[in-house]
Amino acid sequence: MRRKIGFHSRILIFGLMLMASGAPLSEDFVDLVKRCEACHGEDGNSRLPVVPSIAGFSYEGFLNTMDVFRENERIALEFQRPGEPETMMNDIARSLSDADVEALARYFSARNFQPVRQAVDAELASRGAILHKQQCERCHTDNGAHPVEDAAILAGQWTPYLRLQFENILSGKRIVPRGMLRRVKKLDQSDIEALLNFYASVN
Ligand code: HEC
Ligand code: HEC
Repeated sequence: MRRKIGFHSRILIFGLMLMASGAPLSEDFVDLVKRCEACHGEDGNSRLPVVPSIAGFSYEGFLNTMDVFRENERIALEFQRPGEPETMMNDIARSLSDADVEALARYFSARNFQPVRQAVDAELASRGAILHKQQCERCHTDNGAHPVEDAAILAGQWTPYLRLQFENILSGKRIVPRGMLRRVKKLDQSDIEALLNFYASVN
C-alpha cells in the first residue's frame, strides 16, 4: 500500500533535499564566483603561476585571509588580466560585504584542491622535506597539504606564487605569525628553494 505523505512532511523532505544538494546559488552569487574564477581558475584551481589556488582552504582560513587583505596586513601583487584593469586582492576584499565573504568561504572551502604538477629537483626536494619536518610541520601539518585553520595549503600550490610570498614575508609586505617569521628569517636562499621544491613534490 502507498503511504500518503502529508504536506508538512513534503516540505521537510524538500528542505532536506535542498540541504543535501547544497542550496541553489543566486545569480548574483554565481557572478561573484565567476569574478574570482577569472583569476583563480575554475573551482578555485588556478592555472596562472602567480595566482594561488584557493580551493579546499579551511573556512576559517579563508575568512582570516580576506580580513588580512582588508586590513592591509598583507599587500597583494597587483595582478592584471589581459584587457582588464589592474585589480588587487586588497581592493577586491574591501569591495565585498561580510555576507559575501562568508558565502565565498563556504563555497571555495567545499571545492577540491588539485595539486599543481610542476617540475621538481629531487635532491632539493629531499633536503626541503627535512627542513619542513624540523621547522614547519608543526603548523603546516601533513607536509603542508592540510589546510589547518589560518595556515594556507602549501603542498601542490604554485611555486612562483609561493616564492613571491617568501619575498613578501621577508620584506614585511606580509605579516605572518612570529613563530613562523623567526624560522623563515633563518633560512638562506637555497633553503627556500629546497622547501619550494619539496612543496611542489607533494601531491
Ligand atoms: C585580478 C585577479 C584576481 C581576482 C579577480 C581575484 N583574485 Fe584573489 N588573488 C589574486 C592574486 C594575484 C593573489 C595573490 C596575492 C598576493 O600577492 O599575496 C590572490 C590571493 C587570494 C587569496 C589568498 C590565497 C592564499 O594562498 O593565501 C584568496 C583567499 C583570494 N585571493 C580570494 C579571492 C576571491 C574570493 C575572489 C573573488 C571575489 C578573488 N580572490 C578574486 C588575484 C585575483
Ligand atoms: C607558528 C605556526 C607556523 C609555523 C611554525 C610556520 N608557519 Fe607558515 N604560516 C602560518 C600561518 C598562520 C600562515 C598564514 C598567515 C596569514 O597570511 O595570515 C602561514 C603562511 C605561510 C606561507 C604563505 C602561504 C600562502 O598560500 O600564501 C608560506 C609560504 C609559509 N607559511 C611557509 C612556512 C615555512 C616554509 C615554514 C617553516 C620554515 C613555516 N611556514 C612555519 C603558520 C606557521
